Amino acid sequence: MTDRVLTGDRPTGPLHLGHYFGTLRNRVELQRQGADMVVIVADYQVLTDRDVAERLRETVDGLLLDYLAAGLDPEATTVFAHSAVPALNQLLLPFLSLVSVPELQRNPTVKDEIQHSRQSSVSGLMFTYPVHQAADILFCKGNLVPVGQDQMPHIEITRTVARRFNERYGPVFPLPEGLLSVAPVLPGTDGRKMSKSRGNAIALSATPDETARLIRGATTDADRHITFDPGLRPGVSGLVQLVALCQDRDPHEVAAEIGDAGAAALKRTATDAVNEFLAPMRERRAAYAKDLGAVREVLRRGNERANELADQTLAEVRAAMGTVY
Ligand code: TRP
Repeated sequence: MTDRVLTGDRPTGPLHLGHYFGTLRNRVELQRQGADMVVIVADYQVLTDRDVAERLRETVDGLLLDYLAAGLDPEATTVFAHSAVPALNQLLLPFLSLVSVPELQRNPTVKDEIQHSRQSSVSGLMFTYPVHQAADILFCKGNLVPVGQDQMPHIEITRTVARRFNERYGPVFPLPEGLLSVAPVLPGTDGRKMSKSRGNAIALSATPDETARLIRGATTDADRHITFDPGLRPGVSGLVQLVALCQDRDPHEVAAEIGDAGAAALKRTATDAVNEFLAPMRERRAAYAKDLGAVREVLRRGNERANELADQTLAEVRAAMGTVY
């Protein structure tokens, strides 16, 4: 069986360089290698976050543009929204019967999200979305799932659901593997992990001026001699790391080259490096943005293919469960 790669994102806002070096770059590479790649826009899962859910159409358009700008090729990769695939969502019901409430309550990523959410009460979706994510992965029999570390508990639940389903009803699903990205964590402009909510992120859609402004405002320190030492000098090292990633170089070598020229020189170098790196993405984004109809058509075609895959899997599930009437 050839690999089917399933991965995706909640549409929460513009993707940034942390996403690029963390996952998008990987996806483009897998696509280049000819993997059958399915990318999910998790527009139901995002309902766990009320603020974002209000601007979904706009956010999804932006996410599609980010994907296309980053190099996902709609001829090679299927991009779809899980809300548009009824048979995928129907898998949720038998899957929910296969996990216990304590298992759901133990999920460390969900616990963490509940702790950080500003909502006064926890919705049923919050506890059950990892099972919905199992449906996201299993509807197309995805067997490789490139994700970050925080998603590993969800992959575990997916494997549990697949295993229990197969044991109870007969072999239908593969047991998917999580594919952890080996990319170094990219610090944002304050030296902490790059994240939209921290305001330290450089969006893939940032203009050259916005990029320059963000980097000018980055946290550095008083030592003029530039070194790469993430533990002791998170701010300076984050900028060095950024240059290194954009130029595909060793960060120590980048730091040594700047040497005694100080933080101002480092910031100029970083601004130039990022702007040069983002230039082709900006160009692609601008071209696609002129024709939003064509961008939405990419999603429509993706939804169509996802529905075909989901219908087929649901038919197998019904046959296995003995519910074909
Ligand atoms: N939970 C993922 C995130 O928050 C998004 C997601 C939804 C996903 N369904 C998925 C990722 C299936 C991988 C596979 O980023």
